[in-house]
Amino acid sequence: MEFEVVTLFPEMFESFLVGSILGKAREAGLIRVFFTNPRDFTSDRHRSVDDAPYGGGVGMVMKPEPIVLAIESAIAARGPAHRILLTPTGTPLTQAKVHSLAAHPRLLLTCGRYEGIDERVRELVIDEELSLGDFVLTGGEVAAMAIVDAVSRYVPGVLGEQESTAEESFSHGLLEYPQYTRPAEFRGHRVPDVLLSGNHERIREWRHEQAMLRTRERRPDLLTKAGEGADS
Ligand SMILES: C[S@@+](CC[C@H](N)C(=O)[O-])C[C@H]1O[C@@H](n2cnc3c(N)ncnc32)[C@H](O)[C@@H]1O
Repeated sequence: MEFEVVTLFPEMFESFLVGSILGKAREAGLIRVFFTNPRDFTSDRHRSVDDAPYGGGVGMVMKPEPIVLAIESAIAARGPAHRILLTPTGTPLTQAKVHSLAAHPRLLLTCGRYEGIDERVRELVIDEELSLGDFVLTGGEVAAMAIVDAVSRYVPGVLGEQESTAEESFSHGLLEYPQYTRPAEFRGHRVPDVLLSGNHERIREWRHEQAMLRTRERRPDLLTKAGEGADS
């Protein structure tokens, strides 16, 4: 799986890509991440990537040419990719969307800054607009990292056990059940007896009940989406 990141701040990704699971996945050649900086595609003396908005208003807007050239250069160098723009006006990211993104061999993630990006970038070179959620970040880099991280977990071999993605939150339309490890009692709080029983059938049932309970309390919208009704 390859990720192309178009960003003014590639250095933000350094520690993110070195440690832990993603670092090992890169060392093993399971994922590759390339960066292209729109500032390298400017032609003026100041290497400017932004300008004042037409029609007035606060802040600056990213100019179309450096970003479009950066995207075209990444594709010319390493091949076609599914081109995503990170923007709060995009479709909110979900686990189902993450799963479907993992089917693409190459994802190109364009990170905005300032007040956003000239609309013609979207019109000319973007396949899909995605949002990390209903809040505004200072730039698209954190959203791009979230996509690299979440999508990489679906690349075979990245996680120790492939079941790991099958059992966790959202995979069955439910939040995950509560997890415990040793000790059996901590500051007066005991691990539920059923988990110490060794009875795998009861444990499986308890986990399903807990997942339903937790989802109904915290995210009834997920049950509604799954067609089960929030009061079932
Ligand atoms: C300060 S934001 C621009 C916000 C824009 N003026 C608006 O109100 O929609 C700068 C950049 O951060 C990124 N960004 C901010 N919030 C985001 C979110 N929720 N999801 C994805 N990207 C986001 C986008 O790339 C955006 O171009």
